Amino acid sequence: MGPPRATEPGPGAEPRLEMSTNLPLFPQQASSQAGQVDAIYFFMVAVTAFFGLLIATLIVIFSVKYRRRSDDEVGVAIHGSLALELLWTIIPFFIAMGMFAWGAKVFFDLYRVPAGAMEIFVVGKQWMWKVQHASGQREINELHVPIGRPVKLIMGSEDVLHSYYIPAFRVKADVIPGRYNTMWFKATRPGTYHLFCAEYCGTKHSGMIGSVIAMEPADYQAWLDGGKSEDTPAAAGERLFTSLACITCHSGDASGRGPALAGIYGHEVELQGGGKVVVDDAYLRESIVNPQAKLVNGFPPLMPTFQGMVSEEQLLQLIAYVKSLKGPAPGGAQPPGGPQSAPAPEKK
Ligand code: CUA
Repeated sequence: MGPPRATEPGPGAEPRLEMSTNLPLFPQQASSQAGQVDAIYFFMVAVTAFFGLLIATLIVIFSVKYRRRSDDEVGVAIHGSLALELLWTIIPFFIAMGMFAWGAKVFFDLYRVPAGAMEIFVVGKQWMWKVQHASGQREINELHVPIGRPVKLIMGSEDVLHSYYIPAFRVKADVIPGRYNTMWFKATRPGTYHLFCAEYCGTKHSGMIGSVIAMEPADYQAWLDGGKSEDTPAAAGERLFTSLACITCHSGDASGRGPALAGIYGHEVELQGGGKVVVDDAYLRESIVNPQAKLVNGFPPLMPTFQGMVSEEQLLQLIAYVKSLKGPAPGGAQPPGGPQSAPAPEKK
């Protein structure tokens, strides 16, 4: 529970319903995506209902109109109608392709994270959601976000498959052990919204719930400042980097036995045996837990695996640290206080 704040709408506050979704079946629309998800959903429901009713009605009418009237009556042989066949093929074709194109657009809007989105780490485990903000603030089974700003969740699981689901935002994504999944949203109205795990994950799956608290940006900042000061993920990652002795090989200079990491994030590296890979969260994670999978060209396969030695949260922190090792290039999501382009200090 965050510290109570006068401006924060309490959980008991009457939900403000969107005009278009007064149906109690539907959660309110509280993100920039909710409207377009609902629009295509209602459209598909309407089309389905229309044709369902049309066909059911015609079945009833026809079965009355063309019913057998005497025992020896034989039906007339019908040899079809090209015009009718074309009509009921072409019209549904365009309706279905329209749904496909529209759905594809909404899908891409939902999955393409806008540049400059604020990053928040989420780790699912049986049976809770652990969250860490870029400033270091942590929370469990709650997620505080500012409104009006794209938020990107980088999500991993410590055990089994979970699914992060915020109905009021119309977003849901699986949280998968062994890899990262992301989702994004832009909250549009302050309030407290349900958070569910939407993938059966064991005995207390149904208790793996919480709330998402969307706040005015100033309130969010105040909430962040009100938490006890914690290391930023990048700072925690830097400490791990030293304590796990990563720094011995990734010393940041040309003589290092491992690749220098400063400025590497988001760029391509050449791999041994040809090919290239963009250094992203997924590649960094793989390189920590399975270093031999994609070796950077010119470096021997010396690195041991850290599988089992670092938790999912620590992996995220290590990655946040590597991300923070930026060159002079403008870094959108630089965590405050994160080390800036500092080559790892020599330590022998
Ligand atoms: Cu976690 Cu269901």
